Amino acid sequence: MRTFIAVVIASLTALAALAIAQPTVPDVPFHDALRGTAPLDTEPKPPLMAPTENKDVIRGLNYAQQPPTIPHKIDNYQVDKNANRCLACHARSRVEESGAVPVAISHYMDRDGSVSGHLSPRRYFCTQCHVPQADTKLLIGNTFVAVEDIRQQPASKKQKR
Ligand code: HEC
Ligand code: HEC
Repeated sequence: MRTFIAVVIASLTALAALAIAQPTVPDVPFHDALRGTAPLDTEPKPPLMAPTENKDVIRGLNYAQQPPTIPHKIDNYQVDKNANRCLACHARSRVEESGAVPVAISHYMDRDGSVSGHLSPRRYFCTQCHVPQADTKLLIGNTFVAVEDIRQQPASKKQKR
């Protein structure tokens, strides 16, 4: 019995030593697109806020069904349970006056696909899906290719992007 306990204690000690010996921090300099090289336990100086791109030029879509990005500023546009500033220009009844693109017909459909005379509640909070863009350089690279573009590329080019 004694030897058994001794063996158990010995193996537990060995295991504990192993666990302590495991390296927890990878041996590469820390770098993060947002934090730079500031270690996780420090608070880096935040970068300046980039201005919102406000060119009023409709941007292309990266894939079918993408909610288009907002090509204008939305500072101080109220969107809450009392008011929706976006609809003041984008509602189908307002676009003649505002010159804005009317909200898509999908925004009048409920989840069963029935179209009603008013905006569907699930489309009320526009910025859940539509976002303005900052006039700044990309934080990280992006090699996204829409599925329809993949299908159009000749086979030799597919891996290269
Ligand atoms: C004062 C009127 C006005 C208001 C308010 C407004 N927009 Fe716009 N919006 C426009 C106009 C006009 C365009 C057409 C492009 C341009 O001139 O900027 C546009 C374009 C857009 C587009 C691009 C559509 C496309 O087909 O690419 C989106 C998305 C959009 N707005 C979303 C919003 C959202 C979301 C809000 C509220 C946070 C909002 N807009 C508030 C006038 C407005
Ligand atoms: C749940 C996500 C979602 C919400 C919320 C939403 N949209 Fe959209 N919106 C989309 C998608 C996806 C498209 C593009 C596909 C389509 O036409 O339905 C789109 C298209 C649009 C377009 C372009 C229409 C066109 O004919 O090119 C406008 C303008 C727009 N939305 C405005 C708004 C406004 C204003 C609100 C808030 C009242 C809003 N959207 C809320 C997802 C959303």
